[in-house]
Amino acid sequence: MRVIAIDGPAGSGKSTVAKAVAERVELPYLDTGAMYRAVAYAVLRAGGDPADEEFTANTARSMELDVGLERVMVNGSDATVEIRGPEVTRSVSLVAANPAVRVELVSRQREWTERRGGGVLEGRDIGTVVFPNADLKVYLTADPEERARRRAKEVADLDYETVAADLARRDTFDSTRAADPLAEAADAVLVDTTGLSIPEVVTRIAQLLEERS
Ligand code: DC
Repeated sequence: MRVIAIDGPAGSGKSTVAKAVAERVELPYLDTGAMYRAVAYAVLRAGGDPADEEFTANTARSMELDVGLERVMVNGSDATVEIRGPEVTRSVSLVAANPAVRVELVSRQREWTERRGGGVLEGRDIGTVVFPNADLKVYLTADPEERARRRAKEVADLDYETVAADLARRDTFDSTRAADPLAEAADAVLVDTTGLSIPEVVTRIAQLLEERS
């Protein structure tokens, strides 16, 4: 089973890079952040409070979740757009800090990968927790200003200052939480994407893979 772990903070270029790497190496791609977002969405949809740990954990355990390349389905409904919305984005860090939610989603991520015989997984804890024996672990970073600029371009209705403040808040929360905080695995290859184009980063990762096979 071939597993490539791509971790890093928001706006580091993870999603675009991971998708392109998956295509290049012909492995299925899984966006694990979308799974945490889907739990936040399901809780809000059910009228629950994401701060209610028990309710949120039960929602995670009982929900039907299908994260595909194009669409994210939650309990049979298309939630692709909603999981990127401001409401979900505001509460997702809280959901991701819930240890019972993490246990459930990590188990689903392993199962997903095993069923497909491998994959390119992007997230925060893939190389440290989900697949500590991944064939390649990449930790992507970029200057905070560049990350905020990239995110601001993606979300057209928010200004740079708001996006930068939100990123800084999430960075701190995600890296200081008790359960599986965002951290670089000791054996991860650090790739700073500041000033690099997507194809340049993808080529660098493809080279790393070749060196290892
Ligand atoms: O990458 P993203 O912005 O879609 O991630 C959404 C949230 O989920 C973010 O607060 C970090 C968290 N997350 C996590 O804790 N572990 C993962 N493997 C992926 C995402």
